[in-house]
Amino acid sequence: MKNIVVLVSGGGTNLQALIDAEKSGIIQGGKITCVISSKEGAYALERAKNSGIPSRVIPRKDYPDSVSYSRAILAALNEEKADLVVLAGFMTILDECVTKEYAYKIINVHPALIPSFCGEGFYGLRVHEAALAYGVKVSGATIHFVNEKADAGAIILQGVVNVENGDTPEVLQRRIMENVEWKLLPKAVSLFCQDKIDIVDGKAVVRE
Ligand code: GAR
Repeated sequence: MKNIVVLVSGGGTNLQALIDAEKSGIIQGGKITCVISSKEGAYALERAKNSGIPSRVIPRKDYPDSVSYSRAILAALNEEKADLVVLAGFMTILDECVTKEYAYKIINVHPALIPSFCGEGFYGLRVHEAALAYGVKVSGATIHFVNEKADAGAIILQGVVNVENGDTPEVLQRRIMENVEWKLLPKAVSLFCQDKIDIVDGKAVVRE
């Protein structure tokens, strides 16, 4: 059984999708053993508590920069003996001290079709605002490994939704979460925990 540590910052609907998937047996070979929040009072912490999952709060605001914050996260991941780290709405970019030690062991969900609308500054609703401002006709979400560059690691899974006339950022966000994020994130986690993702020439190859 792999130890899955989930990093969160907000509402935690993706965390909930992971918890539900573990309970229903969609996630095989792994167990969520700890939730770490970058924000005190994040609703994701309630979700962990309601499911009996231990949690920690490591507030981003208590650290002067990304490097010192990342060191604190790294220490916690090592203490928790994390085999897989999932960034589920985690709104802080991790320094390479974490991404190098956990290379191809950190999975992120990004709410757009990478390489569009991604990188520094693209997070949460801002991503959907940018997609609507551009006028794209499809959008979606990407599940990918995390490396030293924001949203640039190997892509594991992607899923697409249509953009409809009159969509607001909130409506598009919800459609992408329901149809893509909440399904593909648990799927990618299960694939990882069953050692079904190979890295070939820096790209992720999924064996289903
Ligand atoms: C999700 O849409 C996730 O893809 C996005 O934030 C939302 C968090 O929702 N993540 C990012 O933008 C990271 N760059 P949740 O807290 O309800 O899972």
